[in-house]
Amino acid sequence: MKAILACALVASACEPLDPAATADPSNCEGCHPEQTREWAGSMHAYASEDPVFVAMNARGQRETGGQLGTFCVRCHAPQPEVRGVGCVACHQVKTIEATHNGGLTWDRGGPMRGGLRDPEATAAHDSSYSELVDGSKPSSSQMCGACHDVVLPNGLAIEATFAEWNASVFADNLSCSGCHMFTAGPRRHDHSFPGIDVATTPWPGIAEQRALIARDLRPAILTKLCVAPMGGGVEVSITLDNAQVGHAFPSGTTHARRVRVELEADGLVVGEPWILRSWFRRGTEEVQFAWDADAIDSELLMPSTSLDPAQPGYYHARTRTVRLTGRPAAIRLGVQIQPIGTDILEDLVKSGDLDPAVIAASTTHTLDAAAREWRAADGFGCVPSR
Ligand code: HEC
Ligand code: HEC
Ligand code: HEC
Ligand code: HEC
Ligand code: HEC
Repeated sequence: MKAILACALVASACEPLDPAATADPSNCEGCHPEQTREWAGSMHAYASEDPVFVAMNARGQRETGGQLGTFCVRCHAPQPEVRGVGCVACHQVKTIEATHNGGLTWDRGGPMRGGLRDPEATAAHDSSYSELVDGSKPSSSQMCGACHDVVLPNGLAIEATFAEWNASVFADNLSCSGCHMFTAGPRRHDHSFPGIDVATTPWPGIAEQRALIARDLRPAILTKLCVAPMGGGVEVSITLDNAQVGHAFPSGTTHARRVRVELEADGLVVGEPWILRSWFRRGTEEVQFAWDADAIDSELLMPSTSLDPAQPGYYHARTRTVRLTGRPAAIRLGVQIQPIGTDILEDLVKSGDLDPAVIAASTTHTLDAAAREWRAADGFGCVPSR
């Protein structure tokens, strides 16, 4: 019935799709409209359109005299016929050769592999169950990990989402898809893949992506604000805990991310913001881009690596203490995350690689649920009090 309906909607639907047609997501829309619409608004579809990617790749090629080669597009546009990470980048994966640097092989022209064990037959393509694409199997994370971990030719691991997850308590029972693909109904998984990045040029689904990112960030990070008297002033301690992120926070392109943790006393910003991110170095010098780096320093919120309170990996919250000289009536803690530091964007604009309009179009996410306010009227102590 479904197939007959599809034949009426899509001219070619009753013919098997050839390998080139299979690579083109517009040929899937007629029969998989929701998955295709969600994917089209995702960063997977945007991966090779992203002006920051295009700018950084162009600059990297220039500065390395072309030595970067296809290093970047291997993950950002693995199928030559398609822009971005298309359907078959995940649904025709045959083997996983390595859990980094795009270490996948594909069975082009083969069946569509997915998590359905009893797929309904269709004339458009053969279907087959694959554990590599079954989100209920923790091992399916390796498929995601092949693209989500980046190791430079000099051995430096600069993106490590899979490795972080693999070392965490989540690795035993919760795959990447288990958190990132909301089950939207029977035989239906959400393909929006919200993370942190939002398109900076006109693109479908920007408002939806922002809303889904806010949904995922809300329960993810727990905060606590404690205020104690100290001389004539106060001692303020901020505790951040990665409660529900299956890897570090931030993760992935941590050298680009800027998590800003800021204090306000009586409405005025006080002290230096606490920034969670990574820094690239070459020797002792800080460098901006991966192709110049031979070391990386990070301050991130790690996930639990142990369920045993006796093990150090059980506790992973981070605390910072600052002293304020006065006695404010109210102190507020705020947390924001910016996908790519303005300093990086400005650097790319200055070298002529990036349109300055991208800076104004960037989204900064405010973690509303992480905000805390302490009031002197309620007495010294912590918010929340437990
Ligand atoms: C003529 C309709 C039609 C077209 C066109 C079509 N599909 Fe399908 N596809 C189906 C049907 C029907 C199923 C089975 C769904 C079910 O059993 O719930 C399916 C199943 C799948 C599955 C799940 C396989 C499994 O075993 O889990 C994937 C993945 C898939 N399709 C991807 C694609 C992609 C990618 C395209 C575009 C290149 C595409 N399909 C085009 C009809 C179609
Ligand atoms: C327990 C749930 C959970 C699991 C498991 C999980 N994630 Fe996430 N992920 C999140 C949440 C929540 C966020 C948003 C907070 C953040 O950015 O870290 C996120 C963010 C991300 C981001 C954006 C990261 C950033 O900070 O820029 C990427 C990329 C990502 N996840 C990929 C993966 C991959 C790949 C895996 C498997 C190896 C995975 N996730 C497993 C919950 C999860
Ligand atoms: C980043 C990897 C990835 C990309 C890209 C991707 N999918 Fe999927 N898709 C999955 C995973 C993983 C599942 C299985 C989830 C499960 O069963 O646990 C899935 C499931 C499906 C299913 C089975 C029904 C369902 O929703 O569970 C269909 C159909 C499908 N995808 C179609 C598509 C189409 C069409 C595209 C491109 C427009 C696409 N997918 C792009 C990873 C991907
Ligand atoms: C073929 C490579 C490839 C595979 C396989 C892949 N991804 Fe991705 N993914 C990417 C790239 C590249 C981006 C970044 C796009 C951009 O922002 O330019 C991305 C972006 C994301 C984001 C959004 C991050 C953000 O900052 O907003 C999430 C979440 C994500 N992927 C999760 C997954 C999960 C879960 C899987 C496995 C089911 C998976 N990916 C499989 C290459 C891949
Ligand atoms: C192993 C696969 C892989 C390789 C190789 C790779 N990337 Fe990525 N890239 C990703 C993934 C996955 C993400 C999404 C991670 C996240 O959201 O945290 C991403 C995100 C990005 C982003 C998104 C914006 C941001 O937040 O920084 C840019 C820009 C980018 N990559 C540029 C590059 C450039 C330039 C190269 C080559 C020097 C490169 N990438 C090589 C997988 C890869």
